[in-house]
Amino acid sequence: MLYPLLRSLLFKLDPESAHEITFRTLRQANKLGLLKNTVISCKTREVMGLRFPNPTGLAAGLDKNGEYIDALAMLGFGFIEIGTVTPRPQTGNPKPRLFRVPEANAIINRLGFNNEGVDQLIENVKNCDYRGILGINIGKNFDTPIEHAVDDYRIGLQKVYCYASYVTVNISSPNTQNLRQLQAADALNQLLEALKSEQARLAQTHGKYVPIAIKIAPDLETAQIEAIAAILLKHQIDGVIATNTTISRSGIEHLPIAQESGGLSGAPLMQRATAVIHQLHASLQGAIPIIGVGGIQSATDALAKIDAGASLIQLYSGLIYRGPDLIKETALAICNK
Ligand SMILES: Cc1cc2nc3c(=O)[nH]c(=O)nc-3n(C[C@H](O)[C@H](O)[C@H](O)COP(=O)(O)O)c2cc1C
Repeated sequence: MLYPLLRSLLFKLDPESAHEITFRTLRQANKLGLLKNTVISCKTREVMGLRFPNPTGLAAGLDKNGEYIDALAMLGFGFIEIGTVTPRPQTGNPKPRLFRVPEANAIINRLGFNNEGVDQLIENVKNCDYRGILGINIGKNFDTPIEHAVDDYRIGLQKVYCYASYVTVNISSPNTQNLRQLQAADALNQLLEALKSEQARLAQTHGKYVPIAIKIAPDLETAQIEAIAAILLKHQIDGVIATNTTISRSGIEHLPIAQESGGLSGAPLMQRATAVIHQLHASLQGAIPIIGVGGIQSATDALAKIDAGASLIQLYSGLIYRGPDLIKETALAICNK
């Protein structure tokens, strides 16, 4: 209820500072016992072999290093995805690299996987109390040549395997040069073959099967989506997350800020991301679960993702514009459907 007031204050700061101040304060408040746990009564659902207490999760990118997990858990998420994390720490692109588009309830970012590296993320996970579902999203370092991308993902998978409920393979950020080329058939086949065999080896070693989800872009033609679906089926991938941010400026082309390069998220992405879920669902026929993300700002948006074929949803930009109430609102709408 207080969020509109808080938002008007935070929106006076530059977006990256506002982000840091908000989540550091939230973490501190939680440490001092000042946060009340948000309880959402919902029937649990099984997806990727995991039991989700409610269907609304946190999307990747908000907590890249897993620094705020316990505080975020108090907000009522059914699951939390941290990352994208790369094998080595990297600073990301030069600032400014994060822009609000308040006229359109949207965000443009070209952060470029700024993160403290996988070893630090694991330390943070080890030190948290959260025992709910934790996704860890892995990527490649910007200076690893795309021909060697498989090596970075293999390192990421190996390192996070024991600490993740599921691992997301991010091949769809628009801010790492050539990353999206990994969505092309040959590259994707090669990557998934390597990761599935590593997953089988790790499952044997650790006596625990950790599902792998692939996160895809919204900027794909129908034929490309069909080709990706066929490859996911061939390799028996456990889940697919649709979608990442878009390079399109459709819906905001009239605004000067649309000139900024990077991925667009929030309301202008809603329809396109839902269409991708629809097309994926048509190809996958329920054989691989879909996690729907992109532009969700209301219960109606969340239900549209489920109607298109998603089993779970994730939020990012909607949290910035609508605040944490959106978590309960979307979870209950889906649970009571
Ligand atoms: C500032 C920002 C940073 C992001 N960083 C990542 C990231 O590191 N990895 C990733 O897979 N997605 C990342 N995303 C994409 C989100 O997880 C999500 O897929 C996308 O924003 C669409 O959802 P939304 O419209 O609810 O924001 C980022 C999004 C934003 C706005």
